[in-house]
Amino acid sequence: MRSNPLASNPSRADRVLRLVPQPEAERRDLAWQRLRAEAQTVVDGSPELATLVLRTIVNAHSLEDAVARRVAGRLAGADLAQDVLYDAFSRAMDDDSTIVTAIHADLAAAIDRDPATDRLVEPVLFFKGFHAIQTHRFAHWMLTKGRRDFALYLQSRSSEIFQTDINPAVPMGHGIFLDHATGLVVGETAVIGNNVSILQGVTLGGTGKESGDRHPKVRNGVLIGAGAKILGNIEIGHCARVAAGSVVLQAVPPNTTVAGVPAKAVGTAGCAEPARSMDQILSREAAESFVYVI
Ligand SMILES: CC(C)(COP(=O)(O)OP(=O)(O)OC[C@H]1O[C@@H](n2cnc3c(N)ncnc32)[C@H](O)[C@@H]1OP(=O)(O)O)[C@@H](O)C(=O)NCCC(=O)NCCS
Repeated sequence: MRSNPLASNPSRADRVLRLVPQPEAERRDLAWQRLRAEAQTVVDGSPELATLVLRTIVNAHSLEDAVARRVAGRLAGADLAQDVLYDAFSRAMDDDSTIVTAIHADLAAAIDRDPATDRLVEPVLFFKGFHAIQTHRFAHWMLTKGRRDFALYLQSRSSEIFQTDINPAVPMGHGIFLDHATGLVVGETAVIGNNVSILQGVTLGGTGKESGDRHPKVRNGVLIGAGAKILGNIEIGHCARVAAGSVVLQAVPPNTTVAGVPAKAVGTAGCAEPARSMDQILSREAAESFVYVI
Protein backbone atom coordinates (compact mmCIF):
# COMPACT_ATOMS: atom_id res chain seq x y z
CA MET A 1 0.00 0.00 0.00
CA ARG A 2 1.06 3.61 -0.44
CA SER A 3 2.01 5.27 2.78
CA ASN A 4 0.32 8.49 3.70
CA PRO A 5 2.87 11.17 2.87
CA LEU A 6 1.63 13.42 5.63
CA ALA A 7 2.22 10.76 8.22
CA SER A 8 5.80 10.19 7.11
CA ASN A 9 6.82 13.72 6.28
CA PRO A 10 6.94 15.91 9.37
CA SER A 11 7.69 19.10 7.50
CA ARG A 12 4.52 18.69 5.51
CA ALA A 13 2.53 17.80 8.59
CA ASP A 14 3.96 20.85 10.31
CA ARG A 15 2.55 23.00 7.59
CA VAL A 16 -0.83 21.36 8.00
CA LEU A 17 -0.89 22.24 11.67
CA ARG A 18 -0.43 25.93 10.91
CA LEU A 19 -3.51 26.07 8.74
CA VAL A 20 -6.67 27.92 9.48
CA PRO A 21 -10.04 26.78 8.11
CA GLN A 22 -11.31 28.75 5.15
CA PRO A 23 -14.70 28.90 3.47
CA GLU A 24 -15.08 26.40 0.65
CA ALA A 25 -15.25 29.12 -2.02
CA GLU A 26 -11.94 30.59 -0.89
CA ARG A 27 -10.26 27.21 -0.83
CA ARG A 28 -11.44 26.52 -4.37
CA ASP A 29 -10.20 29.88 -5.53
CA LEU A 30 -6.78 29.29 -3.98
CA ALA A 31 -6.54 25.86 -5.59
CA TRP A 32 -7.43 27.41 -8.94
CA GLN A 33 -4.72 30.08 -8.52
CA ARG A 34 -2.27 27.39 -7.62
CA LEU A 35 -3.17 25.29 -10.67
CA ARG A 36 -2.68 28.26 -13.00
CA ALA A 37 0.71 29.01 -11.48
CA GLU A 38 1.76 25.39 -11.89
CA ALA A 39 0.54 25.41 -15.49
CA GLN A 40 2.94 28.24 -16.25
CA THR A 41 5.83 26.19 -14.90
CA VAL A 42 4.77 23.31 -17.15
CA VAL A 43 4.98 25.55 -20.21
CA ASP A 44 8.27 27.04 -19.05
CA GLY A 45 9.83 23.61 -18.61
CA SER A 46 8.17 21.85 -21.54
CA PRO A 47 7.14 24.33 -24.24
CA GLU A 48 5.95 21.40 -26.35
CA LEU A 49 2.97 21.15 -23.98
CA ALA A 50 1.93 24.79 -24.43
CA THR A 51 -1.08 23.98 -26.61
CA LEU A 52 -2.36 21.39 -24.15
CA VAL A 53 -1.91 23.76 -21.22
CA LEU A 54 -3.54 26.64 -23.12
CA ARG A 55 -6.59 24.61 -24.11
CA THR A 56 -6.97 22.90 -20.76
CA ILE A 57 -6.02 25.43 -18.10
CA VAL A 58 -5.30 28.89 -19.49
CA ASN A 59 -8.61 29.04 -21.38
CA ALA A 60 -10.58 27.59 -18.43
CA HIS A 61 -12.58 29.69 -15.97
CA SER A 62 -12.23 27.41 -12.95
CA LEU A 63 -10.39 24.34 -11.77
CA GLU A 64 -13.37 22.10 -12.46
CA ASP A 65 -13.74 23.64 -15.91
CA ALA A 66 -10.10 22.73 -16.59
CA VAL A 67 -10.81 19.16 -15.48
CA ALA A 68 -13.86 18.94 -17.76
CA ARG A 69 -11.78 20.22 -20.68
CA ARG A 70 -9.01 17.70 -20.06
CA VAL A 71 -11.31 14.71 -19.61
CA ALA A 72 -13.29 15.67 -22.72
CA GLY A 73 -10.04 15.98 -24.64
CA ARG A 74 -8.86 12.54 -23.60
CA LEU A 75 -12.20 10.86 -24.36
CA ALA A 76 -12.82 12.58 -27.69
CA GLY A 77 -12.52 10.55 -30.85
CA ALA A 78 -14.03 9.96 -34.24
CA ASP A 79 -17.45 9.25 -32.72
CA LEU A 80 -17.73 12.23 -30.41
CA ALA A 81 -15.94 15.56 -30.63
CA GLN A 82 -14.25 17.19 -27.66
CA ASP A 83 -16.67 20.15 -27.74
CA VAL A 84 -19.71 17.89 -27.53
CA LEU A 85 -18.29 16.05 -24.53
CA TYR A 86 -17.17 19.28 -22.88
CA ASP A 87 -20.65 20.83 -23.29
CA ALA A 88 -22.23 17.73 -21.77
CA PHE A 89 -19.82 17.73 -18.82
CA SER A 90 -20.41 21.45 -18.25
CA ARG A 91 -24.16 20.85 -18.14
CA ALA A 92 -23.67 18.05 -15.64
CA MET A 93 -21.64 20.30 -13.33
CA ASP A 94 -24.17 23.14 -13.66
CA ASP A 95 -26.98 20.76 -12.77
CA ASP A 96 -25.31 18.90 -9.90
CA SER A 97 -22.93 20.84 -7.68
CA THR A 98 -21.89 17.66 -5.87
CA ILE A 99 -19.88 16.74 -8.97
CA VAL A 100 -17.82 19.90 -8.53
CA THR A 101 -17.37 19.22 -4.81
CA ALA A 102 -16.24 15.70 -5.62
CA ILE A 103 -13.75 16.86 -8.27
CA HIS A 104 -12.05 19.07 -5.70
CA ALA A 105 -12.06 16.29 -3.10
CA ASP A 106 -10.66 13.74 -5.59
CA LEU A 107 -7.89 16.13 -6.51
CA ALA A 108 -7.07 16.59 -2.84
CA ALA A 109 -7.09 12.81 -2.41
CA ALA A 110 -4.54 12.39 -5.21
CA ILE A 111 -2.21 14.89 -3.57
CA ASP A 112 -2.86 13.50 -0.11
CA ARG A 113 -2.30 9.84 -0.91
CA ASP A 114 0.12 9.76 -3.83
CA PRO A 115 3.62 10.40 -2.50
CA ALA A 116 4.83 10.70 -6.08
CA THR A 117 3.21 14.09 -6.59
CA ASP A 118 2.69 17.38 -4.83
CA ARG A 119 1.41 19.38 -7.81
CA LEU A 120 -2.26 19.81 -8.73
CA VAL A 121 -1.36 20.05 -12.38
CA GLU A 122 -0.21 16.42 -12.52
CA PRO A 123 -3.58 14.76 -11.80
CA VAL A 124 -5.38 17.42 -13.85
CA LEU A 125 -3.23 16.85 -16.94
CA PHE A 126 -1.81 13.35 -16.67
CA PHE A 127 -3.33 10.93 -14.11
CA LYS A 128 -5.69 8.53 -15.80
CA GLY A 129 -7.09 7.34 -12.46
CA PHE A 130 -8.27 10.87 -11.72
CA HIS A 131 -9.67 11.21 -15.24
CA ALA A 132 -11.43 7.85 -14.99
CA ILE A 133 -13.19 8.86 -11.77
CA GLN A 134 -14.43 12.08 -13.33
CA THR A 135 -15.59 10.23 -16.43
CA HIS A 136 -17.57 7.96 -14.13
CA ARG A 137 -19.11 10.93 -12.34
CA PHE A 138 -20.31 12.33 -15.68
CA ALA A 139 -21.55 8.89 -16.80
CA HIS A 140 -23.43 8.40 -13.51
CA TRP A 141 -25.08 11.79 -13.96
CA MET A 142 -26.12 10.82 -17.50
CA LEU A 143 -27.67 7.62 -16.22
CA THR A 144 -29.63 9.42 -13.50
CA LYS A 145 -30.97 11.74 -16.23
CA GLY A 146 -32.22 8.76 -18.22
CA ARG A 147 -29.46 9.05 -20.80
CA ARG A 148 -28.37 5.44 -20.54
CA ASP A 149 -26.71 5.20 -23.92
CA PHE A 150 -24.54 8.27 -23.40
CA ALA A 151 -23.59 6.83 -19.99
CA LEU A 152 -22.66 3.50 -21.56
CA TYR A 153 -20.68 5.29 -24.24
CA LEU A 154 -18.63 7.02 -21.55
CA GLN A 155 -18.10 3.74 -19.69
CA SER A 156 -16.96 2.08 -22.89
CA ARG A 157 -14.63 4.94 -23.79
CA SER A 158 -13.17 5.07 -20.27
CA SER A 159 -12.50 1.37 -20.48
CA GLU A 160 -10.74 1.87 -23.80
CA ILE A 161 -8.75 5.00 -22.92
CA PHE A 162 -8.11 4.59 -19.18
CA GLN A 163 -8.42 0.77 -18.82
CA THR A 164 -10.97 1.42 -16.09
CA ASP A 165 -14.42 -0.15 -16.36
CA ILE A 166 -16.93 1.19 -13.85
CA ASN A 167 -20.63 0.59 -14.39
CA PRO A 168 -22.37 4.01 -14.59
CA ALA A 169 -24.95 2.91 -12.02
CA VAL A 170 -22.38 2.76 -9.23
CA PRO A 171 -22.81 5.51 -6.61
CA MET A 172 -19.39 6.85 -5.71
CA GLY A 173 -18.51 9.09 -2.78
CA HIS A 174 -15.96 11.86 -2.79
CA GLY A 175 -12.23 11.83 -2.12
CA ILE A 176 -11.68 8.75 -4.27
CA PHE A 177 -8.13 7.87 -5.27
CA LEU A 178 -7.42 5.37 -8.05
CA ASP A 179 -3.70 4.77 -8.12
CA HIS A 180 -2.64 3.71 -11.64
CA ALA A 181 -6.22 2.59 -12.27
CA THR A 182 -5.31 0.04 -14.92
CA GLY A 183 -7.57 -3.00 -14.80
CA LEU A 184 -10.18 -1.75 -12.33
CA VAL A 185 -13.60 -3.37 -12.82
CA VAL A 186 -16.63 -2.31 -10.77
CA GLY A 187 -19.98 -4.07 -11.21
CA GLU A 188 -23.43 -2.54 -11.50
CA THR A 189 -24.69 -2.88 -7.93
CA ALA A 190 -21.44 -2.04 -6.16
CA VAL A 191 -21.27 1.00 -3.89
CA ILE A 192 -18.12 3.02 -3.18
CA GLY A 193 -18.14 5.35 -0.15
CA ASN A 194 -16.04 8.41 0.65
CA ASN A 195 -12.23 8.56 0.87
CA VAL A 196 -11.70 5.15 -0.66
CA SER A 197 -8.33 4.27 -2.23
CA ILE A 198 -8.10 1.58 -4.88
CA LEU A 199 -4.95 0.28 -6.56
CA GLN A 200 -4.65 -1.23 -10.01
CA GLY A 201 -6.14 -4.56 -11.01
CA VAL A 202 -9.00 -4.56 -8.51
CA THR A 203 -12.36 -6.20 -9.19
CA LEU A 204 -15.53 -5.37 -7.28
CA GLY A 205 -17.54 -8.12 -8.89
CA GLY A 206 -20.20 -10.75 -8.46
CA THR A 207 -19.58 -14.41 -7.63
CA GLY A 208 -21.51 -15.48 -10.67
CA LYS A 209 -23.98 -17.28 -8.38
CA GLU A 210 -26.18 -14.33 -7.44
CA SER A 211 -28.50 -12.07 -9.40
CA GLY A 212 -29.93 -8.67 -8.53
CA ASP A 213 -27.97 -6.86 -5.83
CA ARG A 214 -24.78 -8.89 -6.23
CA HIS A 215 -21.74 -6.65 -5.84
CA PRO A 216 -19.63 -5.40 -2.90
CA LYS A 217 -20.47 -2.39 -0.76
CA VAL A 218 -17.25 -0.55 0.02
CA ARG A 219 -17.66 1.84 2.95
CA ASN A 220 -15.77 5.02 3.84
CA GLY A 221 -12.01 5.09 4.22
CA VAL A 222 -11.33 1.63 2.77
CA LEU A 223 -8.01 0.79 1.09
CA ILE A 224 -8.01 -1.96 -1.56
CA GLY A 225 -4.58 -3.23 -2.58
CA ALA A 226 -3.41 -4.05 -6.09
CA GLY A 227 -5.02 -7.04 -7.72
CA ALA A 228 -7.56 -7.71 -4.96
CA LYS A 229 -10.79 -9.39 -6.04
CA ILE A 230 -13.83 -8.70 -3.89
CA LEU A 231 -16.75 -10.88 -4.93
CA GLY A 232 -20.40 -10.88 -3.95
CA ASN A 233 -22.81 -8.62 -2.13
CA ILE A 234 -20.60 -8.22 0.91
CA GLU A 235 -19.79 -5.26 3.15
CA ILE A 236 -16.24 -3.99 3.32
CA GLY A 237 -16.52 -2.05 6.56
CA HIS A 238 -15.25 1.45 7.04
CA CYS A 239 -11.49 1.88 7.16
CA ALA A 240 -10.89 -1.79 6.37
CA ARG A 241 -7.81 -2.71 4.35
CA VAL A 242 -7.67 -5.43 1.74
CA ALA A 243 -4.19 -6.73 1.03
CA ALA A 244 -2.84 -6.88 -2.51
CA GLY A 245 -3.75 -10.08 -4.30
CA SER A 246 -6.51 -11.11 -1.90
CA VAL A 247 -9.75 -12.80 -2.92
CA VAL A 248 -12.42 -11.56 -0.54
CA LEU A 249 -15.57 -13.70 -0.34
CA GLN A 250 -16.86 -12.76 3.13
CA ALA A 251 -17.81 -9.45 4.70
CA VAL A 252 -14.93 -7.55 6.26
CA PRO A 253 -15.65 -5.83 9.59
CA PRO A 254 -14.71 -2.16 10.00
CA ASN A 255 -11.07 -1.36 10.84
CA THR A 256 -9.92 -4.84 9.87
CA THR A 257 -7.10 -5.89 7.56
CA VAL A 258 -7.70 -8.99 5.48
CA ALA A 259 -5.26 -10.91 3.28
CA GLY A 260 -5.02 -14.12 1.32
CA VAL A 261 -6.99 -16.40 -0.99
CA PRO A 262 -9.64 -16.64 0.29
CA ALA A 263 -9.01 -13.61 2.48
CA LYS A 264 -8.88 -13.86 6.26
CA ALA A 265 -8.50 -11.23 8.98
CA VAL A 266 -4.84 -10.65 9.70
CA GLY A 267 -4.93 -7.51 11.79
CA THR A 268 -6.58 -4.26 12.66
CA ALA A 269 -6.62 -1.23 10.41
CA GLY A 270 -6.31 2.25 11.75
CA CYS A 271 -8.45 5.03 10.47
CA ALA A 272 -6.64 7.94 12.00
CA GLU A 273 -7.63 10.52 9.46
CA PRO A 274 -10.58 9.23 7.50
CA ALA A 275 -11.65 12.61 6.23
CA ARG A 276 -8.29 14.22 5.61
CA SER A 277 -8.68 14.50 1.89
CA MET A 278 -12.07 16.12 2.37
CA ASP A 279 -10.62 18.58 4.81
CA GLN A 280 -8.07 19.91 2.45
CA ILE A 281 -7.37 23.46 3.30
CA LEU A 282 -5.30 25.90 1.40
CA SER A 283 -4.19 28.66 3.69
CA ARG A 284 -3.44 32.13 2.35
CA GLU A 285 0.09 31.71 3.58
CA ALA A 286 0.44 28.48 1.68
CA ALA A 287 -1.08 29.91 -1.46
CA GLU A 288 1.35 32.78 -1.38
CA SER A 289 4.31 30.48 -1.11
CA PHE A 290 2.72 27.87 -3.38
CA VAL A 291 3.11 25.18 -0.81
CA TYR A 292 0.39 22.59 -1.15
CA VAL A 293 -1.33 21.83 2.11
CA ILE A 294 -4.08 19.50 3.13
C1 LIG B 1 -15.58 -20.25 -7.74
C2 LIG B 1 -16.95 -19.65 -7.56
C3 LIG B 1 -17.74 -19.75 -8.86
C4 LIG B 1 -17.67 -20.25 -6.41
O1 LIG B 1 -17.84 -21.66 -6.64
P1 LIG B 1 -18.60 -22.58 -5.59
O2 LIG B 1 -18.35 -23.98 -6.02
O3 LIG B 1 -20.02 -22.15 -5.44
O4 LIG B 1 -17.79 -22.30 -4.27
P2 LIG B 1 -18.29 -21.82 -2.84
O5 LIG B 1 -18.68 -20.39 -2.87
O6 LIG B 1 -19.31 -22.78 -2.30
O7 LIG B 1 -16.94 -21.98 -2.04
C5 LIG B 1 -16.31 -23.25 -1.92
C6 LIG B 1 -14.93 -23.06 -1.34
O8 LIG B 1 -14.09 -22.44 -2.31
C7 LIG B 1 -13.58 -21.22 -1.82
N1 LIG B 1 -13.60 -20.31 -2.93
C8 LIG B 1 -14.65 -19.87 -3.65
N2 LIG B 1 -14.27 -19.01 -4.60
C9 LIG B 1 -12.93 -18.91 -4.48
C10 LIG B 1 -11.96 -18.13 -5.16
N3 LIG B 1 -12.31 -17.32 -6.19
N4 LIG B 1 -10.69 -18.24 -4.77
C11 LIG B 1 -10.33 -19.04 -3.73
N5 LIG B 1 -11.22 -19.79 -3.06
C12 LIG B 1 -12.51 -19.71 -3.42
C13 LIG B 1 -14.55 -20.80 -0.73
O9 LIG B 1 -13.92 -19.99 0.25
C14 LIG B 1 -14.95 -22.14 -0.14
O10 LIG B 1 -13.93 -22.58 0.72
P3 LIG B 1 -14.29 -23.46 2.05
O11 LIG B 1 -15.03 -24.66 1.57
O12 LIG B 1 -12.94 -23.76 2.64
O13 LIG B 1 -15.13 -22.56 2.90
C15 LIG B 1 -16.84 -18.14 -7.22
O14 LIG B 1 -16.35 -17.94 -5.91
C16 LIG B 1 -15.94 -17.38 -8.20
O15 LIG B 1 -14.74 -17.20 -7.99
N6 LIG B 1 -16.61 -16.89 -9.24
C17 LIG B 1 -15.93 -16.08 -10.22
C18 LIG B 1 -16.47 -14.71 -10.12
C19 LIG B 1 -15.76 -13.68 -10.93
O16 LIG B 1 -14.79 -13.92 -11.61
N7 LIG B 1 -16.31 -12.47 -10.81
C20 LIG B 1 -15.82 -11.33 -11.51
C21 LIG B 1 -16.98 -10.61 -12.10
S1 LIG B 1 -16.50 -9.11 -12.83
